[in-house]
Amino acid sequence: MVLDSRLATLRSNFTFGACKAVHFCALTPKQSESVRLWRNHPEIQKQMYNQEPITTQAHRSFIEGLQHSTARSYWAVFDDGRGIGTMSLVRINLVHAFAFLGIYINPDCFGTGSGTKILQLLEFVAFDKLKLHSLRLEVFEHNKRAIAFYERNGFVREGCLHDYAWVNHAFHNIILMGKIHA
Ligand SMILES: CC(C)(COP(=O)(O)OP(=O)(O)OC[C@H]1O[C@@H](n2cnc3c(N)ncnc32)[C@H](O)[C@@H]1OP(=O)(O)O)[C@@H](O)C(=O)NCCC(=O)NCCS
Repeated sequence: MVLDSRLATLRSNFTFGACKAVHFCALTPKQSESVRLWRNHPEIQKQMYNQEPITTQAHRSFIEGLQHSTARSYWAVFDDGRGIGTMSLVRINLVHAFAFLGIYINPDCFGTGSGTKILQLLEFVAFDKLKLHSLRLEVFEHNKRAIAFYERNGFVREGCLHDYAWVNHAFHNIILMGKIHA
């Protein structure tokens, strides 16, 4: 029963202060297209494992695949109605109470503190709603902005996955970071 309610949480929308997280499956076509365009922006794309442009068909299939997933969930985040980015929980394990997170902001929002707002909302969902114990993430070693951002927000470096990702014809180191719920 408790497990069922936590699984329902994975497909819910959330409000936290002025921010609202809307599950990808509940986005309007226009909102969904905005998310695809953010994801395809060069500044976002270059920080992702998959750096191929996302087509409309691939985007639609991806969202359809989320409908019944119990292991991953994606939301677009709106601040006073304005789309500021996305957040996700993947590799969700309710037995061990962990998940890996992902965040990217609307490229128009760089330098406005949007990432912090999204992370606060994501931690609310992960720790308060899903009752997870720990959050982890993987980030390119060269993504200094993101590493500094996560450290500012209480994540610590837990290790380096050497030559973990094959991107742009080269292997790249990945930094593993984590936060244990207080
Ligand atoms: C990593 C990422 C999510 C961080 O989000 P962000 O919005 O840039 O980070 P912050 O919320 O800390 O805001 C950053 C800047 O806004 C400024 N800012 C302005 N107003 C602010 C406010 N009210 N609160 C906090 N910061 C504010 C900060 O000073 C900071 O400036 P700085 O970068 O010059 O130090 C974002 O840069 C991003 O999407 N990057 C591309 C994708 C990516 O790398 N994702 C992570 C992969 S693991």
